[in-house]
Amino acid sequence: MSKDLFSPVVLGSISLKNRIVMAPLTRNRAGEGGVPQAINATYYAQRASAGLIVTEATPISAMGHGYPALPGIYTDAQVAGWKKVTDAVHAKGGKIVIQLWHVGRISHPSLLPNQALPVAPSAIKPAGQAFTYQGLVDYVEPRALDASELPAIVQDYVHATKSAIAAGFDGVEIHAANGYLLDQFLRDGANHRTDQYGGSIENRARLLLEVTQAVVNVIGADKVGVRVSPVNPFNDMSDSNPQAVFNYVANALNQFNLAYLHAVEGGIHGGGKADPFDFSVFRKQFKGAYMANLSYDKKRGNQAVASGHADVVAYGVPYIANPDLVERFQQDAPLNEADSNTFYGGAEQGYTDYPALHG
Ligand code: PHB
Repeated sequence: MSKDLFSPVVLGSISLKNRIVMAPLTRNRAGEGGVPQAINATYYAQRASAGLIVTEATPISAMGHGYPALPGIYTDAQVAGWKKVTDAVHAKGGKIVIQLWHVGRISHPSLLPNQALPVAPSAIKPAGQAFTYQGLVDYVEPRALDASELPAIVQDYVHATKSAIAAGFDGVEIHAANGYLLDQFLRDGANHRTDQYGGSIENRARLLLEVTQAVVNVIGADKVGVRVSPVNPFNDMSDSNPQAVFNYVANALNQFNLAYLHAVEGGIHGGGKADPFDFSVFRKQFKGAYMANLSYDKKRGNQAVASGHADVVAYGVPYIANPDLVERFQQDAPLNEADSNTFYGGAEQGYTDYPALHG
């Protein structure tokens, strides 16, 4: 039987009722202290007919924050808040993994403990501006991490993974995409290090592989996904040879037998032109399940699944506006348009008030 978006699939040990995934989406609506609120549980539960929900990117530590009103996954109160989210999603038969995030240099002292400088592989200031509680402010030159500090960051991923288990998640996704900390190590536009974490591709991939090993040791490889964005220029990112870097990463990740590899197959947020890249070649390096993302519609999603390019397809913007995206795809019903004015911050409007076909 040929596969389509509506056929069930198992990613590692996570059983999905269909291959339609809600992509991670930053929405900036967490409560005080990065604690998820009832409204966040409502939002995710409305979307529980997805085969899998990947939560919004969620900081693993206080130093991992880079935008206002993000939820965290490192305090007891945050775990209790997320438990309400996972319970609400599970009560509706959904599956949900949490995306583990450290923003690295994409932050600002006003968002960090004691006005600390953001940290990064190298002291290279990204072009652009940070979203702070005071509005848009130029990025600052980050502080280059000493190699001796990296084990503590790996431990922050371990602590966040233990917190994710306590919060009832079905798994975790390691965010190594879109110009945040792990991606800053991977790509040589942001990584000018001369130690064992810089220079060669093997060295630049070292931190991601150490984090992945540590997370796998806590929760099991069959509950871990990794997200990369080989050519996304957003956040002032570049690499001199992305195909070589990400083919290496996909191959190196084979050693773990992960639940899935998730790829952003282009550039986001109008961050510039993406370099040429062969995602078909990249995908073939990876022996496990592949989650494709970016600008897929129903037709291209079905083609990607039928052809074997992707095992599952992640939909972002369509999920903002269509809590029942699965049902709409099933019925070929029209989609609600997403309103970009309410993507980031605010309350119910543009968050939990998009109508379902059958109220
Ligand atoms: C964003 O807030 O614009 C954002 C956050 C996380 C991503 C990408 C974009 O991975």
